[in-house]
Amino acid sequence: MKKMVALLLAAAMMATAAGCSNASNASSAASNASAAGSESAAAASDITVGVCIYKFDDTFMTGVRNNMTEQAKTLGAKTDIQDSQNKQPTQNEQVDTFITKGVNALAVNPVDRTAAAPLVEKAKAKSLPIVFLNREPEAEVMKSYDKIWYVGAKAEESGTMSGEIIADYFKANKSADKNGDGKIQYVMLQGEPGHQDATLRSKYSVEAIEKAGFATEKLAADTAYWDKVKATDLMNNFIASQGLDKIEAVLANNDDMALGAIEALKAKGYNKGDKSKFIPVVGVDATAPALAAMAEGSLLGTVLNDAENQGKATVNIAVAAAQNKPITKENIGYDVTDGKYVWIPYVKVTQDNYKQFQS
Ligand code: GAL
Ligand code: CA
Repeated sequence: MKKMVALLLAAAMMATAAGCSNASNASSAASNASAAGSESAAAASDITVGVCIYKFDDTFMTGVRNNMTEQAKTLGAKTDIQDSQNKQPTQNEQVDTFITKGVNALAVNPVDRTAAAPLVEKAKAKSLPIVFLNREPEAEVMKSYDKIWYVGAKAEESGTMSGEIIADYFKANKSADKNGDGKIQYVMLQGEPGHQDATLRSKYSVEAIEKAGFATEKLAADTAYWDKVKATDLMNNFIASQGLDKIEAVLANNDDMALGAIEALKAKGYNKGDKSKFIPVVGVDATAPALAAMAEGSLLGTVLNDAENQGKATVNIAVAAAQNKPITKENIGYDVTDGKYVWIPYVKVTQDNYKQFQS
C-alpha cells in the first residue's frame, strides 16, 4: 500500500513538474488506480475513528459528540471517543494510545488550538488522516500535512447574528434604552480566552449593533469559560459593580453563559415575566435548555451552532479519508473550502423560529 501511494505521488509530482495541464490527468489516474487497489477500498465496518473531545462536560460539545456516535453507526464505522478533561497533555497521550491501538483516522477537538502541531506530527508519522473540529488550528499547521481537515463554523457569523437580535429588540422597544441616552449599555460574558469563537463573537456582536445604528457602551466584559456556574458568579459581579438599573443588554458568547447570567437576573426578580423587569440576553448554540428559556421568555434569542452537521461532517471526512477517498462534496456531503475546511452555517434563532429547532 505505502509503495503504491509513493508511486502514485511520484507520478503526480512528475506530471505537475511537466506542466499544469497534465497534473489533473495524473491525479484522476491516481484516484482510479487507488480505487482499483484492493487495500484502499476498506469497508466502513473495518474503520475505527479515534476521537478526542476537549472535555465531556460541555453542553454544546456533548451534542456534537452524540451526533458523531450516531453518524458512525449510520455509516457502519466504529468510534472510540475519549474525554481529554480539558488537559492538553492528556489529549496528547490519548492520541498516542489511539495510534498504538491502530485506529484508521483521528478526529480531534483540541484542548488548546495553538498546540495542534504535535498532534499533526504524530498523525503524519503514521500517514493517518486527522480531522480537527470546533477549535481551529493555526493556518500554518493546517498547511503542514495533506491529510488534515477542519470542521467548524464561521464565528464572526454567529457574532453578527447575536448582535442583530439585540439591535432588533432595541428598535422594537424604545424603553429598552433605560437611561434614554441613545446608547446601549451592555455587559459581555466571554468564552475561553484564545478560542476563535470567543474573540470573534465578542467583536462582531458589538459591530452588528453599531452597524444597525446604535451607539454602544461596554460597562464590563470578562470570561466565564463557556460555563454556566461561572457565568452566574460573573453576572453577580457585574450587577454588584454596575447596578442592575444601568445594564441594558447582556451579550454572552454561548448559551450556557447566557443561562448562567439569567440565573443571576432571576435571583433579582428580573426576566421572570414582568415586562418592566426584563433585560435582553442573547447567547449562541441553541442548546435544548436555551430553547426552553426562549419558550419561557427569559432568553431573548440565540444562534444555532449546528452540532448535528458538525458531528456528521467530521465523521464523514474521517471515514472517507480512511478509505482513501478524496475529500469532496461528492464523498462527504458537504462543501469543502480550499480542500481542507468544512464550514457549517449558523442560523439566527428568535421568537419567530425557535420552535423549529426544538426536538
Ligand atoms: C463553541 C460553543 C461553546 C463551547 C465551545 C467549546 O463553539 O459555542 O458553547 O462548546 O465551542 O470549544
Ligand atoms: Ca442607554
